[in-house]
Formats: sequence, structure tokens, C-alpha cells
Amino acid sequence: MPLQTPSTKLPRVGTTIFTVMSQLAAEHGAVNLGQGFPDFAVPQRLVDELDAAMRAGHNQYAPMTGVPVLRQAIAGKALRCYGAQVDPDAEVTVTSGATEAIFNAIHAVVRPGEEVVVLDPAYDCYEPAIDLAGARAVHVPLDPLTFAVDWERVRAAITPKTRLLMINSPHNPSGAMFSADDMQALAGLLRGTGILLISDEVYEHIVFDGRRHESVLRWPELRERAFVVSSFGKTYHCTGWKIGYAIAPPALSAEFRKVHQYNVFCTFAPAQHAFAAMIRDEPEHDEQLGAFYYRPSATASASSCWARG
Ligand SMILES: Cc1ncc(COP(=O)(O)O)c(C=O)c1O
Repeated sequence: MPLQTPSTKLPRVGTTIFTVMSQLAAEHGAVNLGQGFPDFAVPQRLVDELDAAMRAGHNQYAPMTGVPVLRQAIAGKALRCYGAQVDPDAEVTVTSGATEAIFNAIHAVVRPGEEVVVLDPAYDCYEPAIDLAGARAVHVPLDPLTFAVDWERVRAAITPKTRLLMINSPHNPSGAMFSADDMQALAGLLRGTGILLISDEVYEHIVFDGRRHESVLRWPELRERAFVVSSFGKTYHCTGWKIGYAIAPPALSAEFRKVHQYNVFCTFAPAQHAFAAMIRDEPEHDEQLGAFYYRPSATASASSCWARG
């Protein structure tokens, strides 16, 4: 009997909208605002550090959780930007971009039949990972004009099957940001439940108008149940390098690492050394990111880390 192609596990997945729009933009010679192609140069220092790391021989498998110097630099950044004490050994895992971190976190904690609340419009990699885990995405729309969250609608979407809630601030595609009131509403909603959180913060440093990024790392009550995910691709204009990370409490990180270990095991070693050097030696890069390109006269007071709340 001829081999039957198995039915698809992801019936709703086709070519991503990003690929469709990039193809159309290329065809028509149009400006491509669909896919994240920053047209800022990668900092020269970062390119030099990558070159140096490769020449220094950092070309073999990195430790599974990430090279210690980078995990330490990430923990230092969490303290500097958000006042969070993060254990680089037990709580930081370096991943192949935020996409891998999101996939790992979902697969580490979500079981078949459970539900995951996502706020629409949501980044496209969330739902396929939820589907592959055998769970169901429960969609709650954001306000169509302001992209604000209606926390009462989120509350109404929660059931005994809810395992996870996914948030994304600053938000792709709208740029909307959570306020301190949002964080308090979220904490109130999750208090006393077993619901976990994925906080997708890949745009944490691309913040304008002196706004303060409300990282979950600033909110201990949320942090204790969260995977906080970020990506160097956004912060350093190198989306093709695909290096990100997740910060989560030790017990959650341990589960996360079980998936990471058999998903990719470890990620591109030379770039990890390069990012470690950048974070350590040029912290002002991310602090000034929003201000740097659009508000050349702005000072560090407009930084994405410490901006006025
Ligand atoms: C909201 C959001 N999350 C995650 C990602 C994926 O990041 P990475 O390229 O590091 O996997 C992106 C990329 O555009 C994004 O916009």
C-alpha cells in the first residue's frame, strides 16, 4: 500500500503574512513595513566583537543554558533596567531568538486540553506552538482603536482549564504599551490562581516619549509566575542573528530548559560572547535606543530603562 501523507497537525498554518508581504514588497519595489527589517546598521562594536569571538576560538557548542558571561550580563541588565535580582545560573536561558523561547515556555508548561489566553492581534508564532502542545488558544481582542486591554474581558475568558496568559508590551503590531495600572490589573487577575504568564518583551528598549517600559521584571508578584522573553535581534538591529533569552524563576527555568535542551540544545556561541561584551561595555546602547534615533537631543532621562513613569 502506498504511504499516506499524514493529515496536517497545523491546519490553520499557511505561508506567514510576513513572507507574503515581503514578496509583494519585492515585486512592487515598495517600502516593506511588514517584516522586521531594521535599516539601522548593526553597531560596529558588535560586529568587531563577533569577529573577535570567532578568532578567539569560540566556535564549538556553547553551554546548554548560554555562555556564563552573557547570562551574567543579562542578569546585570535586569538589575540596571528594572531593579530585578536575577540569578544568572538558575534563571537565565539563552535561546535561538524569542521565537524559540516562546515555543519552549509553552511546551514546558502547557498540557493537551488546556487553554492559553492570547490578546489579539497577537504575534504569529504564539498560536501554532499552543496548537502543537495540544492546547487551545482563547482569543481576547484588544481595543480596536487604542489596543488597550479590557481586563474584564480577560477575566471572562479564564476557565479552570486556563494554564497560561500571553502578553506583549510594547506590542507588535500597534506599539501600544502596558501602563502600571495594567500591571496591577493583571496581578489582581492572576492572584490566587495557578495561571502562568509569558511576557514577550522583545521591544523593551524601543520606547518613545519618555514612557517607562513596564517589564514584568519590575513586578515581583508577576515575575514569580512568568517567563520574561526578549530578543537581541530587535535591540541591536540584527534580526538575522536570532539570539534571545528567557528569564524565569528556577523551577520554571528548569522545565523550560528540558525543552530547550532537546529543541536546539544551545545557540550560536560567538554571538553570545559578542552580546556579553556589548551589554557590559556599552549599556547606553539600549538605554538610548528610542531616544537615539528619533530624538537626537534627548538625554538619558528619556531612556527606555529609567524613563519617567
Ligand atoms: C512580538 C514579537 N515576539 C517575538 C518575535 C520573534 O523574535 P526573534 O526574531 O528573536 O525570534 C518578534 C519578531 O518580530 C516579535 O515581533
